[in-house]
Amino acid sequence: IHVDWDAVTAEKGGFEHFMLKEIHEQPKAYRDTMRGRIDESGKKVVLPELKLTPEQIKSINKVQIVACGTAYHAGLVGRNAIESLVRIPVETDVASEYRYRSPIVTPDTLVIVVSQSGETADTLAALREAQSHGAHVLAITNVVGSSIARDADDVIATLAGPEIAVASTKAYTSQLIAFYLLSLYLAEVRGTQTPEQITQIIAAMQALPEQLDSMLAKPEAIKAYAEQISKHEHLFFIGRGIDFAVAQEGSLKLKEISYIHSEAYAAGELKHGTLALIEDGIPVIALATQEDVLEKTVSNIKEVSARGADIMAITHEEHVVSLLKSVNQAFAIPKTLPLLTPALSVVPLQLLSYYASLARGNDVDKPRNLAKSVTVE
Ligand code: G6P
Repeated sequence: IHVDWDAVTAEKGGFEHFMLKEIHEQPKAYRDTMRGRIDESGKKVVLPELKLTPEQIKSINKVQIVACGTAYHAGLVGRNAIESLVRIPVETDVASEYRYRSPIVTPDTLVIVVSQSGETADTLAALREAQSHGAHVLAITNVVGSSIARDADDVIATLAGPEIAVASTKAYTSQLIAFYLLSLYLAEVRGTQTPEQITQIIAAMQALPEQLDSMLAKPEAIKAYAEQISKHEHLFFIGRGIDFAVAQEGSLKLKEISYIHSEAYAAGELKHGTLALIEDGIPVIALATQEDVLEKTVSNIKEVSARGADIMAITHEEHVVSLLKSVNQAFAIPKTLPLLTPALSVVPLQLLSYYASLARGNDVDKPRNLAKSVTVE
C-alpha cells in the first residue's frame, strides 16, 4: 500500500486540522495540568510553584481577572470558581478596557492575568498597570518563557502543549483546570471549604479526562447539527450562570471560524430585547446544565420555542426526556459537579464550530482577519 504522509499531516497527528487534533488532546492537557498539583492522597491541591505566601493569601480582599478573547471567557468561569469556593469578590475585565476604567487596585488585590501565548499586548499592559499599584500579579499561561510569564509575580503554567489553530480549545480548557486548582488551593489556605468538599471536587476533576474521552468518541450528533446550522447566518446561544459563561465562549468560537453571526445571551435577559430577533427556524443553542437554575432556563427555552426557534439543548442525560418537550434536539454531557461542567460542556460547542466551519469550506485553522497572538494594542 502507498500512503501519502507529508510532514504537515504528520504534525497534525493524522487529524485533518490542528483544531481537531487540539480538541482531542484535551484529556491529556487536563491530566498534564493536574499532574503534580494534587497530592497522592487526592485530598489536597499543592501549588509548589507559587511565591504567594499563606499570609498574603489570607489578606486578599479582592481578585481581578484580566484577559482577552477566549482567555477572558476562561476568566468568567474562574470568577465563578473563586467566588463560590473562596468567597472573595472577583471582578473580570477584558484587558483592553481594564486600564482605562481606573481600576481600584491595592496591595491586597490579587490580579490574575490569563493568556495562552503570554504575549498579548493588552494583557501585558494590564499586568503592568496592576503591578504599578502594588498588586500581586499571577499569570495563568501556556508559554513559560513568554513576556507575561517573565513579568508576573507568580505563574501557573497550563500544560496544554503548543496550540497552533487560531481558535483556542485545549488552552481554554486547561485554563479552567488551572482556575479550579487555584480556587481549591485558596480555599484550603483560607479554610472556606471542608476537607470532604475539597476531596469531592478533586475526585470529580480527576474523572474529567475519561469523561471527555467518552464524549470525543461520539461526535456524530454534533456533526450533523453543525451541518444544519452551517446554512444559517444568525444564531443565538443562551444560558444562565456558569452556562452563560460557556455560551459566550461557544459563540466566539463559532464566529471566529464559521463566520456565522452569533450572540450569547444570559437566558433571563432575552425578554429585554433579543427576543425581538427570534423568528421561525432560527437556531438557538441552550445550555441547561445547572440544576439550581434549570427550571428558569426551561422557561426561557419555552419563550424562544413559542416564537419558532429551532433549539438544541446541552444538558445532562437525566433531563433529556423532559427537555425534549420544548427543544428539537438535546445533547447529553457526562455528569460532573455543577462547578466543573464548563470543562465538559464547552467541548460539543468546539466541535460544533469546527464542523460548521468545515461544512462552509472555511480555513478552519487560519480564519480570515484573525491572528493567534495579538501583540499590538
Ligand atoms: C487572539 C486569539 C484568541 C485569543 C486571544 C487572547 O485574539 O485569536 O484565540 O483568545 O488572542 O490570546 P492569549 O494568547 O492572550 O490567550
